[in-house]
Amino acid sequence: MRKQIAAANWKMNCTFQQGEKLLDDILSAEIELASHQLAIFAVPYPYLLMTRSEVEEEQNYYVAAQNCHDKKFGAYTGEVSAAMLHSMNVNYCVIGHSERREYNGETNAMLADKVNLCFENFITPLFCCGEPLNIREAGTQNDYVAVQLKESLFHLPADKIKNIVIAYEPIWAIGTGKTASTEQAQEIHQYLRSVIAGQYGEAVANEIPILYGGSVKANNAKELFSCADVDGGLVGGASLVAADFIEIIKALK
Ligand code: 13P
Repeated sequence: MRKQIAAANWKMNCTFQQGEKLLDDILSAEIELASHQLAIFAVPYPYLLMTRSEVEEEQNYYVAAQNCHDKKFGAYTGEVSAAMLHSMNVNYCVIGHSERREYNGETNAMLADKVNLCFENFITPLFCCGEPLNIREAGTQNDYVAVQLKESLFHLPADKIKNIVIAYEPIWAIGTGKTASTEQAQEIHQYLRSVIAGQYGEAVANEIPILYGGSVKANNAKELFSCADVDGGLVGGASLVAADFIEIIKALK
């Protein structure tokens, strides 16, 4: 079975102590994950080592960075490279979150470079795509997300892209409490998979987990994750409340 993933994106929230407690509370629920199920915590850079040491005893729990730089190394004060993450045994990295696209001017071309650097450093990218409200209202969301995939991912060979994780996060659903309906989610996830299949074939497309993100909550996760092409979620707000994220992990197929 394709991997099913509950990924927490803490964004710029929690002090170190609050983060430790949140992880302790979630891990003390001792949810046993099946071999195809993963829980991933995308935490601020200064918490990577703490989080890694919290999860490393647990089966199928992982730490992720929320970003990496698009250059290998050099005079980029304040930035963190994929090689640095690899040297800290961080195996996942969120790439191209809409907040970074919007506030940090990240382009599809820069994200292609970041994805390459992740793969060079044995890091699985959690690649985010998703349309703003005006595109959804115009009904052109499929073309919009297809361009995001093509320009950032389709230079990859099949044996690399098959290891990626995609997160579809409609911008109008992020932090708004407005979730895509199960029909909307299934429709665009299926479309994304068909675009990948068109480029790389069905077998590759069927291996890639496509997560949904945007106001995933404890009370809607099960319904969203039950869609055939929704392979879990990338969760912001609800990942900061232990009881809620526990329910979201339990909602995985
Ligand atoms: P919310 O779950 O807070 O809507 O955030 C979604 C998100 O951006 C996860 O990366």
